[in-house]
Parts: sequence; C-alpha cells; structure tokens
Amino acid sequence: MLYRRAARMVKCLTCGHVGPVWMWKALLFFAAIAIADQLLDVIFKKSSVQPAAHSIFSSPDAQGPSLGSCQPHTHIMFLKTHKTASSTVLNMLYRFGEERNLSFALPVRYQLGYPLPFKATMVKGYRGPRAVEFHIMAHHMRFNKPEVEKVMPADTFYFSIVRNPISLAESAFAYFKSVAPAFHKAKTLGEFADNPMKFYDPNITYNFLTRNLLWFDFGMDHNAKFSVEEAQRAVATIRQTFKLVLLSEYFDQSMILLRHALCWPLDAVVSFSLNARQQKPSGFGGMSGSWVSKAAAVAGVKVTGGHSLTKTPESQSLTEEQRDKLQQWNTFDWYLYQAFNQTFWDEIHKFGLAEMEQEVALLRILREDLARVCLRDGGKPVEAQQIRDKSIRPFQSGPVKILGYELQPGLDNRTRTSCLRMIMPELQYKDLLDAKQFPRAQTVQQGKQTSTRMRKDSH
Ligand SMILES: *[C@@H]1O[C@H](CO)[C@@H](O)[C@H](O)[C@H]1NC(C)=O
Ligand SMILES: *[C@@H]1O[C@H](CO)[C@@H](O)[C@H](O)[C@H]1NC(C)=O
Ligand SMILES: *[C@@H]1O[C@H](CO)[C@@H](O)[C@H](O)[C@H]1NC(C)=O
Ligand SMILES: *[C@@H]1O[C@H](CO)[C@@H](O)[C@H](O)[C@H]1NC(C)=O
Repeated sequence: MLYRRAARMVKCLTCGHVGPVWMWKALLFFAAIAIADQLLDVIFKKSSVQPAAHSIFSSPDAQGPSLGSCQPHTHIMFLKTHKTASSTVLNMLYRFGEERNLSFALPVRYQLGYPLPFKATMVKGYRGPRAVEFHIMAHHMRFNKPEVEKVMPADTFYFSIVRNPISLAESAFAYFKSVAPAFHKAKTLGEFADNPMKFYDPNITYNFLTRNLLWFDFGMDHNAKFSVEEAQRAVATIRQTFKLVLLSEYFDQSMILLRHALCWPLDAVVSFSLNARQQKPSGFGGMSGSWVSKAAAVAGVKVTGGHSLTKTPESQSLTEEQRDKLQQWNTFDWYLYQAFNQTFWDEIHKFGLAEMEQEVALLRILREDLARVCLRDGGKPVEAQQIRDKSIRPFQSGPVKILGYELQPGLDNRTRTSCLRMIMPELQYKDLLDAKQFPRAQTVQQGKQTSTRMRKDSH
C-alpha cells in the first residue's frame, strides 16, 4: 500500500511538467512522506480502536514544511464569492480563528447585508471606525471597500476565490433556480443560454444571481455595457485591494499559495469539501475507489492531479454554442476570470512547479489521513436526512441535495471536537462562534429569525 501510494504520487509528478532532473529528488521526497505516513498509520494501529487522533491535529507533520520566521497573519478579509467552494474556505477561517480566540466580523444574521452593498453597521458589535478589533471577516457580502475599511485593521490581508463563469453558471442554475426568476422561467440552463434576454429583467430582485455574479460580489455594476477599458480599470482596482485571488478549479494549489501568503501551518488549510451538491452518478471510471477524493474535491469542479469529477448533467447538455453564449452573457466575469487565472499561474510559476506538486501531495496525504480518522465510511458524503446527528445536517437550497458527512463513531472527546469542526456546516458554525463571541446576547433567537430567502442565498 505504501509503495502504491508513493508510486501514484511519482506517476502524477512525472505526468506533469517535471523533468527527469527532479525525479530523484521527487522519489526521495515521496519515500520520506511514505515513511512518515506509515508512521502515522502505526501510531493509529497501536492505539487500536480509538485512534489517538488528536496526535494528527497537533503532530509536526500536520504543520507542513517550515515557512521560516514569518508571523502568521491574523487580520484577514475573505470576500466569499458565490458557488466557488468558498464555504470550504470559510470553514478553514472559522477553525483557525476559533482555535486562536480571534474575533470575527459576524453578520447580525447570516450575511453581511447581501445583496445590498456592505455597510460597517451590518457587523455585529461594530462601534464606529476601528473602535473594536476584528480579526476575520469572511461572510457573503457585496464588496464595498470604504465600509470594510471601517471595520478591519489597516494591515488586513484581503483575498478571494473565483471560478470559470460557465461552471459557476451551472452551479448557480442548480442552486438558485427557485430564487432567481430569470433561471426559474428557463427549463434548462441551455435554454437560458440560448437567449438570456428572453428571461432576464435586470429590475427584478435576485436576477443578479444569473449574470456576472462574481462582478456583482466584487461590488461592481454587473449590468454595465462591456468595454475592455472599463473591465481593465475594475480589475486593476480589485488588484489594489486583493493580494491573492484563488481558483476553485485548482483548490489545493490555491490552499498552498494561501498558506504561504498567510504564513499558516499546513493543517490550517486542510479541509473536506463542504456544501457540495449531489452529482448524478454516471459511467466514469477514474474515480473508482476513493471517496476521500470526493470529500477532498470541490462540488462540480475538476480536480487536478488525476481525479476528475463527473461533469454535471447540465454541462453535458450544453452545446458549444450555448457555452459561448453563456461566456458572452457573463462577459465581465469572463474577463475577471481570465485576468486572475493569468495571475494565479504566474504565482504558481514563481512558487515553483515542483515545490507546488510536493506541497499539494502533502496536503492530500494529510487530508486522507484526517478523513480516515474523522469520517464514517472513509468520508463518503451522505444526504442530509441520513445524517444521524441533526445538528450537523447541512442547510438545503433549492432542488439539489446538499451533502454532508458523518463522524466516525467512538472518537475521544478532543478528536471528536476537532473532527466535528471540519464538517460543521457553515450556518451551525456561525451560530456557535456567535454564541462564543457574544455570550450574553440572545444569539440563538437571532438565528431563528433569519428569513428563509436570505438563508437560501447564503449558499
Ligand atoms: C482561548 O480562550 C480560552 C478560554 O478563555 C482559553 O482557555 C484558551 O487558552 C485560549 N486560547 C488561546 C490560543 O489563546
Ligand atoms: C428597469 O428600471 C429602469 C428604471 O426604473 C427603467 O428605465 C428600465 O426600463 C427598466 N428595465 C426593464 C427591462 O424593465
Ligand atoms: C489559464 O491560464 C493557463 C496558463 O497560462 C492557460 O493555459 C489557460 O488557458 C488559462 N485559462 C483561461 C480560461 O484563461
Ligand atoms: C465529553 O464531552 C461531553 C460534552 O461535551 C461531556 O459531557 C463529557 O463529560 C466529556 N467526556 C469526557 C470523557 O471528557
């Protein structure tokens, strides 16, 4: 098994851009990982039924390769865009902040006023410009820099995540069909793509979900007439604020870039895919055994390094022409995506392709180990109603089924807590943090008052 795993890694490495010069280094490297990995296995087996799994949460291996003498960033603003695996990123920020008692700029309800442009007064506990120290701001908002700056310290690190607008539209169509009238009226995304103007009225609320949604989330006019100059100017503005823009399609590579930018340990950026929608099973061979790669993967997103998720039924039914039309329809988003795709790959090349492959491999090993320890059935995602512990059932949105996980039974308390945090759906986790941060407030009451419409949008 050990050998297979190392061999798989090396195969994956050589199928990439790495020349034979790296082969020996790579082999040695993976041998080292494999041994470390085996050691972990031994530790678990020794402790028999109940793995001493907190060791995995605090082991030096989980820290990843040293980042030198940098200080971890603790002032962070994450613009949580829609349908981009941002719930998974949010979970990591929650865990990092909770473990270190950092304070969150929490919404009064579940979102920071979305879809209205963000205002500082939407943050719970806000008492005037920089009057209270907030460390992390990460809930859905329509970005509005001057107002964010009233809340967050001057040295805040801003980052976000984007995704190919066509796959984003597929995901948005599945999640928001019942919320956005323009989608609701179309039978399929293909029909919508054929002639969006037939369905789209910009004056109807929630139709913003159907056009240039990224552009909208970044706070810009998503209905503006496209011009390259306008798009260039806007992207330049975004760059001034956001030091890192990640790609959902390359989630693991993104996490490595993020951890280096933030000076965070490896285990802080390991996660299971949250808020994933159920994919219709179809004849795909490559994914066979490993559910872990599902837990690892991002809903509807192609995962690099050999795993390739099924295409959604919608994408299979979109014609080339419809894809082109969707691209034109989301022309600002397409511009944005191309611009940050370019930057992303520049960053990866600066980082070093081989170094990136190595850290991504470590990340995946750690994730697989955590999945084995924490998750029932090795991390097979399950439908919400089948999750016995009702408190960790994910919120459901529209006709698609949002999957969740079950914890391995019989974990010791400390491990259970750590594992639970990794799979806790975002609404529940937000309530928990809220209760910690505002112990005397009636936080539970507040949560219950949230309108269903807004809750729907939070995904
Ligand atoms: C966080 O706060 C708790 C309770 O006040 C305390 O026990 C713990 O040591 C703190 N942790 C850190 C990392 O400061
Ligand atoms: C939307 O509203 C604006 C101003 O209220 C109006 O000028 C415009 O014609 C409306 N657009 C549509 C498609 O109804
Ligand atoms: C993203 O960048 C890569 C590397 O430069 C390029 O091969 C790819 O075509 C780009 N994708 C898009 C959608 O621009
Ligand atoms: C485990 O946690 C529960 C509640 O969080 C507590 O009631 C119980 O006593 C704990 N058990 C141990 C062995 O610490």
